[in-house]
Amino acid sequence: MKATVFLGGGRITGALVAGLRLAGYAKPILVHDRHARKLNELKRQYGVIVERDLHRAVESARVLIIAVRPGSVRGLLKEIGTEKILRPMIVVSLAAGVPLSKLGSYLRGPGVKWARAMPSPVCRSGLGLTAVAFSRGFPAGRRAEVRDLFGVVGAVLEIPEKQFDAFTVTFSSSHGYHALAALISAAEKIGLDRKRARLAAAHALADGIAVWREGKSSLEELLHEAATPGGTAAAVMDAMNRAGYRQATVRGLRAGMKQAARNARD
Ligand SMILES: NC(=O)c1ccc[n+]([C@@H]2O[C@H](COP(=O)([O-])OP(=O)(O)OC[C@H]3O[C@@H](n4cnc5c(N)ncnc54)[C@H](OP(=O)(O)O)[C@@H]3O)[C@@H](O)[C@H]2O)c1
Repeated sequence: MKATVFLGGGRITGALVAGLRLAGYAKPILVHDRHARKLNELKRQYGVIVERDLHRAVESARVLIIAVRPGSVRGLLKEIGTEKILRPMIVVSLAAGVPLSKLGSYLRGPGVKWARAMPSPVCRSGLGLTAVAFSRGFPAGRRAEVRDLFGVVGAVLEIPEKQFDAFTVTFSSSHGYHALAALISAAEKIGLDRKRARLAAAHALADGIAVWREGKSSLEELLHEAATPGGTAAAVMDAMNRAGYRQATVRGLRAGMKQAARNARD
């Protein structure tokens, strides 16, 4: 039996497996992690096969997905050992910042083909977006296998590796959650109760963006329409901009890029 194998059974593996199962993905899924509790939970919820032995997990893989934190990637790949991979295998790293050149130096083999993928955890509900980048020489015929796997849980977009980290720090669903949390907390500070603060903030962020994505109006037109001169929305945006809203966003993305560069070095 050759399975889709996840090395690391944490947050993103849980979200991906949930999305795959939700979409009726019927191929065998095997997960390896050092925590029996996480494995048992994934088995209970999604019927994955669990494997405590790393080498047996790798031997079972048709597609091998590296889903450990960036700082753990090198150790894990060294533990697998180059000599173990003598057959053709697609290896996909989800690790933020770790470049294909490093991955290929940690784990090589005559048939090993490396790709990077950056799924969003909202893939758990089939609404994800996954960025993918392929190593040079990755067979064209097998690229579809990677795209199809992540395509089960949402849209897939191929990104040149030099833009991969910039895309990663920009498209994270954490931006939406972060903005939502900040808006709810600010709304409570000006006197809204928690329930109404949540409703108002969700409406503010989700509905406007849904309208923009319909593509009937440009962002400039929508901003113009939503902010009457002399009205409250214009005053709010103006004050937020003066307080450094845009600069804070740029600084946030730059911090993400610096972290990606640190992950690439370690
Ligand atoms: N979370 C996201 O939304 C997201 C989205 C896209 C990509 N990613 C990427 O996906 C990767 C995993 O992120 P995550 O948030 O899922 O991390 P996580 O929740 O910490 O899960 C990683 C799991 O792998 C285990 N592990 C690490 N090294 C191991 C080893 N040598 N053998 C067995 N198990 C090992 C960890 O155990 P310990 O805790 O004991 O180390 C942990 O249970 C990261 O590289 C991240 O950049 C994450």
